[in-house]
Amino acid sequence: MSLVDKVVAITGAGHGIGRREALEVAALGGSVVVAEFDADAGAEAVKEIEAGGGRAVLVAGDVADTAVADAIVAAAVDTFGRLDAVVNNAGFLRDRTFVKMTADEWDDVIRVHLRGHYAVAHAACVHWRDAGTGGRLVGTSSTAGLLGNFGQANYGAAKAGVVAMSSIIAQEMARYGVVSNVVCPAARTRMTSGAYGEIGGGEGWDFWSPDNVAPMVAFLCSDAAGTISGKVFGVQGDVVELYEPFTSVAFIRNGERRWTQDELAAGVPGLFAQAGRDPEVENMMARLRFSMTDRSKRAAGPVAQG
Ligand SMILES: NC(=O)c1ccc[n+]([C@@H]2O[C@H](COP(=O)([O-])OP(=O)(O)OC[C@H]3O[C@@H](n4cnc5c(N)ncnc54)[C@H](O)[C@@H]3O)[C@@H](O)[C@H]2O)c1
Repeated sequence: MSLVDKVVAITGAGHGIGRREALEVAALGGSVVVAEFDADAGAEAVKEIEAGGGRAVLVAGDVADTAVADAIVAAAVDTFGRLDAVVNNAGFLRDRTFVKMTADEWDDVIRVHLRGHYAVAHAACVHWRDAGTGGRLVGTSSTAGLLGNFGQANYGAAKAGVVAMSSIIAQEMARYGVVSNVVCPAARTRMTSGAYGEIGGGEGWDFWSPDNVAPMVAFLCSDAAGTISGKVFGVQGDVVELYEPFTSVAFIRNGERRWTQDELAAGVPGLFAQAGRDPEVENMMARLRFSMTDRSKRAAGPVAQG
């Protein structure tokens, strides 16, 4: 697999997972548009890529600003002559339990992730439709969006929205040769150090290194990924998972009649029985196969949880 002659725009490429993705794409021969709010970090990423013999250009700005999104596509075309893939990765957290969450904390997180994904994906899709070249989108969601995580109503809503948006783009843009997929990464970055503290590596293999997310993202940017589209992958350590979010797991019917309240009271428990689920609220994050919070068992390797 190679990204030689490919041009990939990566948002939030100044720090963390995005920076490692940018370095990976460059190492595989691709040219990178580093899109980053933190201009100094973005410039450092460009320098690091160039020092390694790669090609990169910086677009500094807020990815949720449509003018910046347009500038990202323009930079790819003007500097490198084409745009092959976009990795939407930029974002931040404003964690707070729901009753304490302010409207600003809600808006800021929805804006950076959801409008940010929209703006850059939209600019790229318009370009790909007009250029007739096809293209590859990779969005960045989170298990907080798929499963729900305490204290992250804003972030989880945005990340669930990223998955829904990607699956609809995948359907609508198939006719233009555009594929759209999503990764749910897990890695030790400044974003998660606040939530999980420092989690060290061990014996030459650091499961939670952000380096480990980059190969799968680069693969999804490459022709080797073929027609894979509308899919959601969990990516952490040496693990790649396939998620099937928001799928019906049980159903009841009422013989072609409207339900009465009594019939629902009698029938609804059958949904939970069929699905093997408790009716009470569940900690869905406890279903994760690999958890950053389970530090006690990390020395023995990640813990299979279900
Ligand atoms: N680290 C994890 O375990 C984890 C888990 C699930 C999802 N994610 C997602 O992965 C992505 C990367 O997270 P990370 O852990 O590397 O965090 P990070 O803070 O290290 O990196 C995020 C980058 O995005 C940039 N950014 C923020 N707002 C921006 C904006 N408006 N415009 C342009 N750039 C902006 C930041 O400056 C930073 O460089 C995020 O979307 C995050 O939600 C991370």
